[in-house]
Amino acid sequence: MAPCPRLPLGASNGYGQPVLRIEIVTLFPEQVLPGLRHSIIARAEREGRIALSAVNPRDFATDKHRTVDDSPLGGGPGMVMKPDIIGNAIASLNPTEADEVVFTEPWGTRFDQPMADDLARVGRVILVCGHYEGIDARVAQRYATRVVSIGDYVLTGGELAAMVIADAVARQVPGVLGEAQSLAIDSHRQGLLGAPQYTRPVDWDGRVAPEVLTGGNHGAVDRWRRQQALRLTRDYRPDLFLRADLSRSDLDLLH
Ligand code: 6GU
Repeated sequence: MAPCPRLPLGASNGYGQPVLRIEIVTLFPEQVLPGLRHSIIARAEREGRIALSAVNPRDFATDKHRTVDDSPLGGGPGMVMKPDIIGNAIASLNPTEADEVVFTEPWGTRFDQPMADDLARVGRVILVCGHYEGIDARVAQRYATRVVSIGDYVLTGGELAAMVIADAVARQVPGVLGEAQSLAIDSHRQGLLGAPQYTRPVDWDGRVAPEVLTGGNHGAVDRWRRQQALRLTRDYRPDLFLRADLSRSDLDLLH
């Protein structure tokens, strides 16, 4: 890994360090790091706001085949990642009490926006990618601050999940998104989906963008967007809608 780039003014927390370090323990660093380093995340790293790095448990294997897994105790299909090897890989990062050590497993707690916000508040997030039939359970007992899944389906490995989590967390770091306002109007920001967006041409093949958006009345635009957000959430995500904290004027907008 290249060392952290020199920091432009305003990008650091005053100590010449990135605000957030994300370290990924993975058998496939070449999938994860180049996969993340595009666009907004790449720029944030160049500007020294975040730092991404990876550790490969394979480098901690001790036999000549560089074995990282073994068959499950008690029998059964597949392979389990060995606690000694992956444990040493994690230990090499010297995780402290202040760090988040997040294991990705399909049986974990569902990742969501509030969790992304929580993770963005610590200075260092270590993401440990499970593979094969998973990681020997003692490793999470020893090191994990959370075990997280990104949804109710099974992936072949935790790498895609770790990338999803890293992206969602990194974009919460101050200055990573160009416009501070982008965060405020996100879908899921207030437990609601975001309103649909439109741009020019106003008339595209006979499909005309909502008139309120071109009328120049900012108050009317805000009210329309809130109404759309409420309707979309009610119709597409009734589970979120039931939990949303709605005001009197929200209910008026809906009716
Ligand atoms: Cl975190 N890992 C795997 N293997 N599958 C998943 C997942 C994680 N989240 C959803 N499916």
